[in-house]
Amino acid sequence: MNDKQAVAEYALNYIQNGMIIGLGTGSTANFFIEALAQRYQQENLQIKVVASSLVSQLKAQQLGMPIIAIEHIERLDIYVDGADEVAPDMTLLKGRGSDLVKEKLLVEAAEQFIVLIDPSKQVNRIGDNFPIPAEVLPFAWQLVQQKMHHAGAQVTLRKTDSGLAITSCGNLVLDLIFDSELSTIALNGLLNATPGIVEHGIFHALADIILLANKGEITKITSGK
Ligand code: A5P
Repeated sequence: MNDKQAVAEYALNYIQNGMIIGLGTGSTANFFIEALAQRYQQENLQIKVVASSLVSQLKAQQLGMPIIAIEHIERLDIYVDGADEVAPDMTLLKGRGSDLVKEKLLVEAAEQFIVLIDPSKQVNRIGDNFPIPAEVLPFAWQLVQQKMHHAGAQVTLRKTDSGLAITSCGNLVLDLIFDSELSTIALNGLLNATPGIVEHGIFHALADIILLANKGEITKITSGK
């Protein structure tokens, strides 16, 4: 069993009967969805799941899980997802899967946000391994690009093999590489305060528990929030 699967299965320890559970997106989240579906069938759990992306929704549907739409929830008990980067202060970088708005909405709505990682996700500083994604309104991307250039960023409009990357909300994604002199907190503030950016990939002071799997051994990292 690889570390992503090991940590996903360990996260089942946080699941209780009756919970509304948010499902993340990515290969680690997929392992969690599979493990949760298996437990749901075996124990006949009375749970409901909410997906952070169409991909996760389809996976949960195929596995026969009871899905509720994001429009129909007021809160979640728990949201379980992976991350692209994790800094020592537990700030995360997310968004390789593009659906940033749903991911952050579910994080905010959840009583508990559990992040599943392996050592490859640990960085000294957010942005060390990946650009910072920003989901932008389609008509705003050039103005946002301009503002980010002024802030010293290299900006790339995300593309896929078949054209522009378009989120499930119909928006575009800009990938941003910033000068390392800007702190993550400053970047978070800049992106929060930029009109046209619907959401971005810095998840600061949002994770409650990070579960790190390293060669099968699980370490729990908690926040003081
Ligand atoms: C999805 O948008 C991201 O935030 C994911 O959480 C991230 O890409 C993790 O992916 P893996 O679990 O495949 O590494």
